[in-house]
Amino acid sequence: MDSTNIFLYLLVSSFLLLIFHLLRTTTRRKLHLPPGNLGLPFLGETLQLISAYKTENPEPFIDDRVSKYGTVFTTHVFGEPTVFSADPDINKFILQNEGRIFESSYPGSISNLLGRHSLLLMKGSLHKRMHSLTMSFANSMIIRDHLLVDIDRLVRLNMDAWTGRVLLMEEAKKITFQLTVKQLMSFDPCEWTENLMKEYMLVIEGFFTIPLPIFSTTYRRAIQARGKVAEALGLVVRERKKETEKGDRKNDMLAALLDEEGDSGGGFSDEQIVDFMLALLVAGYETTSTIMTLAVKFLTENPSALAQLKEEHDEIRARKGEEETLQWDDYKSMSFTQCVVNETLRIANIISGVFRRAMRDVSIKGYTIPKGWRVFASLRAVHMDHDHFKDARTFNPWRWQTNSGSSSCSSVNVFSPFGGGPRRCPGAELGRVELSVFLHHMVTRFSWVLAEQDKLVFFPTTRTQKRYPIIVQRRNPVEANS
Ligand code: HEM
Ligand SMILES: *[C@@H]1O[C@H](CO)[C@@H](O)[C@H](O)[C@H]1NC(C)=O
Repeated sequence: MDSTNIFLYLLVSSFLLLIFHLLRTTTRRKLHLPPGNLGLPFLGETLQLISAYKTENPEPFIDDRVSKYGTVFTTHVFGEPTVFSADPDINKFILQNEGRIFESSYPGSISNLLGRHSLLLMKGSLHKRMHSLTMSFANSMIIRDHLLVDIDRLVRLNMDAWTGRVLLMEEAKKITFQLTVKQLMSFDPCEWTENLMKEYMLVIEGFFTIPLPIFSTTYRRAIQARGKVAEALGLVVRERKKETEKGDRKNDMLAALLDEEGDSGGGFSDEQIVDFMLALLVAGYETTSTIMTLAVKFLTENPSALAQLKEEHDEIRARKGEEETLQWDDYKSMSFTQCVVNETLRIANIISGVFRRAMRDVSIKGYTIPKGWRVFASLRAVHMDHDHFKDARTFNPWRWQTNSGSSSCSSVNVFSPFGGGPRRCPGAELGRVELSVFLHHMVTRFSWVLAEQDKLVFFPTTRTQKRYPIIVQRRNPVEANS
């Protein structure tokens, strides 16, 4: 190469570079991604996120980025660049536009465990139909007329066996599992349900082995256990079909699913029904049992809140006999309890946010989310934001008392522990009722102390490290009208 050639080469290549650079900045400007840091290649900021969420105070992960970039920023977590939203309006936009602009998006390892036909993975009109079917099985009227009596009975039954040291998280899980099995297919606790729960717990463990599922024994065991659980449920479905043919009609979720089969929309296969039931077991289990445990934890740490709650429930119990079942009116009269429930949901953030994928380029608040990108609508970030809740990081159930004058809730959009839009949790009311009934029996029948210091963590799920061990002592029965 002589010198002219080299000169020409340099000229051309710098020209190309310049064009390339210009093009890149213009597409960037046109797209205008939210600001942020993608971190390391492949890992991105996943490790920072995990280490923050493994502590009792994960807030700095979000706080740091919000103060640097604002409430919507770009990061790279769990293998993909992700737009992270800590903004209530953007979250609402994401949730409301489910199926039109965004769709739910779960990692493959989770989909395998859920099954192809689970509600969480369904899309489009089938999702709509199944979502409303779930709603029709768990709405207030159904809870009032059918589910409440079993909730009350099974909570009592389990608590009857409590003495001395109790691992609250384990007990809450047992209760929640039994409740769901009863609601889905009318089985009372027995050896069969216990075996089912053992296999089921192996499946659950598989959900939280994130990085390389193919190499993980926990994951393989979970897939195997899923096969067994599905087999057991499949048997139940077939048995039930026979019973139904004989004219024996039960009133539960399985019956509702089988009823759907006859109509013109086309029936469901056994596999579809099994996946659907398994998804309901998963969705209600971790969430409700964790919220029960954490409500007790927060109350234990706040004696005056606990005292006020006790007073409310002693009053309700005093109106009734010792063994009398709670009625819907009793539930409706638990006004302070509902403050405790909301405040626990707000502070605990069991589901810290939801993952979605943009179905097309989306412009919002001056930024563009490119088609195909992951977004994470963080519910937690909004619940913990001082702009939306005064002293946002303190447990304060009184903030929910409407007559307190200093309403700390700036708008309805900012509190969404159950998500929103077409995928809003269909078990929201059921979860609230189960927690309220649990708290009623807990405070009217027992006093307790913490057995060991325990720590709250938020990864891989929201939980306390030692399953919240407490020492319980039976209270004297609440005297009627004393
Ligand atoms: C108190 C505890 C609970 C909390 C905090 C909670 C929270 C949530 C949230 C945030 C979502 C939205 C997920 C998303 O948008 O991707 C959701 C969905 C769902 N929840 Fe719950 N949930 C609770 C209890 C329950 C219970 C008891 C059931 C049982 C019926 C249940 C069944 C479901 C189902 C089936 C979905 C999927 C809905 C869909 O994709 O259409 N949840 N839950
Ligand atoms: C609890 O939050 C819900 C919104 O999810 C709200 O409708 C309800 O009024 C709140 N309850 C209390 C006691 O403030």
